[in-house]
Amino acid sequence: MAEPGGTGPVGPYPQRVETEEDKTDYDKLRRRVLWTLPYGLYVVGSRATDRRNAMTLNWVTQLAFDPKLIGIGVEQSAHTHELISAGRVFSLNTVAREDRAIVRKFTKPVEVDETAGTLNGFAFHDGATGAPILDQAVAYLDCEVRQSLDLGHHTLFLGEVVDAGFQRDEDTPVLRMEDTRMSYGG
Ligand SMILES: Cc1cc2nc3c(=O)[nH]c(=O)nc-3n(C[C@H](O)[C@H](O)[C@H](O)COP(=O)(O)O)c2cc1C
Repeated sequence: MAEPGGTGPVGPYPQRVETEEDKTDYDKLRRRVLWTLPYGLYVVGSRATDRRNAMTLNWVTQLAFDPKLIGIGVEQSAHTHELISAGRVFSLNTVAREDRAIVRKFTKPVEVDETAGTLNGFAFHDGATGAPILDQAVAYLDCEVRQSLDLGHHTLFLGEVVDAGFQRDEDTPVLRMEDTRMSYGG
């Protein structure tokens, strides 16, 4: 995983920031501001030929309503990045609040057991696009990539929703970043 917020102080700096110490302080402050942005917390499934993966992700939002597009920001060093670039599909899984422990399981390389149909021990099935959907997910959005934007350390993948559904009660509270002690980016 990339260092939170980059490897060192990152510009640009406002005019009042002059010394190296000012830059470090400003970098930390800007990070704290960025961390106050409210986020959900999800598991993204990816697939290229017979290779499948799943990873924890919070950088996601809907970006258009006709067509139905969502955007996800994916680290270029992630295995998920390789699979989405090759397979051009991904699934977005929402997670029940009570299942918050699941997100820790998908912040490291995933072990796929095709015979058992599990990713790191969690049962999955393939969605319409072929991307894996966790059986435990409250709901899913199954997407085909329409565009991607290279942002340096990350790529913004724009996926059109080609299938969606609930797998648990629609009122199930879904996980948000503030339900955990985790943070990302900043
Ligand atoms: C709370 C949290 C949020 C994360 N959000 C993102 C994200 O939005 N985008 C991303 O690329 N990685 C994110 N990550 C990091 C990935 O989960 C991590 O790099 C993972 O190991 C990548 O898996 P992969 O290499 O198997 O694809 C997040 C990690 C945590 C703990």
